[in-house]
Amino acid sequence: AESAASHNGGRSGALSPPTVTEELQRIDVNPPKGTRDFPPEDMRLRNWLFHNFREVSRLFGFEEVDFPVLESEALFIRKAGEEIRDQLYCFEDRGNRRVALRPELTPSLARLVIQKGKSVPLPLKWFAVGQCWRYERMTRGRRREHYQWNMDIIGVPEVTAEAELISSIITFFKRIGISESDVGFRVSSRKVLQEVLRCYSIPENLFGKVCIIIDKIEKLPLDVIKNDLKSAGISEEAIEELLRVLSIKSLTELEEILGGAGEAVADLKLLFSLVENFGYSDWIQFDASVVRGLAYYTGIVFECFDRDGKLRAICGGGRYDRLLSTFGGDDIPACGFGFGDAVIVELLKEKGLLPELDLQVENIVCALDHNLQGVAATVATILRGKGQSVDLVLESKPLKWVFKRAARINAQRLILVGNTEWQKGMVGVKILSSGEQYEIKLDELE
Ligand code: HAM
Repeated sequence: AESAASHNGGRSGALSPPTVTEELQRIDVNPPKGTRDFPPEDMRLRNWLFHNFREVSRLFGFEEVDFPVLESEALFIRKAGEEIRDQLYCFEDRGNRRVALRPELTPSLARLVIQKGKSVPLPLKWFAVGQCWRYERMTRGRRREHYQWNMDIIGVPEVTAEAELISSIITFFKRIGISESDVGFRVSSRKVLQEVLRCYSIPENLFGKVCIIIDKIEKLPLDVIKNDLKSAGISEEAIEELLRVLSIKSLTELEEILGGAGEAVADLKLLFSLVENFGYSDWIQFDASVVRGLAYYTGIVFECFDRDGKLRAICGGGRYDRLLSTFGGDDIPACGFGFGDAVIVELLKEKGLLPELDLQVENIVCALDHNLQGVAATVATILRGKGQSVDLVLESKPLKWVFKRAARINAQRLILVGNTEWQKGMVGVKILSSGEQYEIKLDELE
């Protein structure tokens, strides 16, 4: 009110409403903390990345799906004490419904699979690229909004599915110039923990909780982890055994401890041999400490990291055979992964592998006389009809300006509509890379 009064010259009485400029001056031009704008140069990079996500999904025969960004909050509430729950953007909508911005895509996918019921033939091979929201502590590559590429296979109980997913991620890496010397997968199975817990007769319903505690092993002091496990009801003896098993980095050693008869070792051995058949052995290693921070995983789990250890996980996934029944559906075996758009860009920057993505418009069309603007529009329509991109100069501009703009948009051809040529029914064409020039009739353009 004060500033409006001063703009009013201090006159008393009715104040005029603030002008648009006055209102704009008061807003913060930055997007909310942790979120991003995508100006054209960033949008070109995002489109390039998503194009590669989609191309790899297509190469593997996956179909694209999508879900609403806003979901019912209940979809994301699990009891195991996951970090993701504390990071939820949730609120009550105007109809008093508890809703949340999705922090991940998997629960929505499970919801859709249940909704489709028996009408869809299995297996489903679905992929999605969508925005996710997590109120996260900001670090390099971790923000409050990110896009995730997900690929999920529903209806295949064998680890052939996990092998296919890992091989699709590797295909993606290779496409964008990342090699096995830049990144590596750490793979384990939650069945490893399950078998240890079973030895100590620890109830099945504690399993998810134990996994979530153990997932923090690299982030928290060991004493805190031990205390948390104790509070969850795990005996000291079982805790020591769990920690011993978690430090194992070779499958042979795991087999020595767990024996060869269990599913954990069998699944892992089969997965490693399948990955070898794909020719990707150098990309993956066994690491019992990988358990993942989401409660629903039941079998193989994997994460991919940069080998220099500078960044957070690039992607992660695993098998979740029992998620559907937690939503009241019939369980169907399922596995998948989520691959974020932020860490990979950091890695490409580190490695000097960011693609050069300049704006490219094939033609710039300009009328040299205001009267000829209509002819320039016809030229533009003809070229666009042939599938060529055209930047039509919309105002009268000096030639110098037009050349500068042509350079900025990386145009290949400049088409000038001038009086002299048009009297002959022709327009001038200049090939900008060679400087070659010629005149052409409109129907020849067609
Ligand atoms: P997640 O490990 O929570 O798994 O996330 C997967 C990937 O999303 C991470 O590896 C990372 O690339 C990216 N990401 C996660 N949070 C952030 C963040 N705050 N900022 C930037 N990037 C982030 C899941 O979400 C599972 N739903 C994946 C899945 C699909 N499992 C089976 N199917």
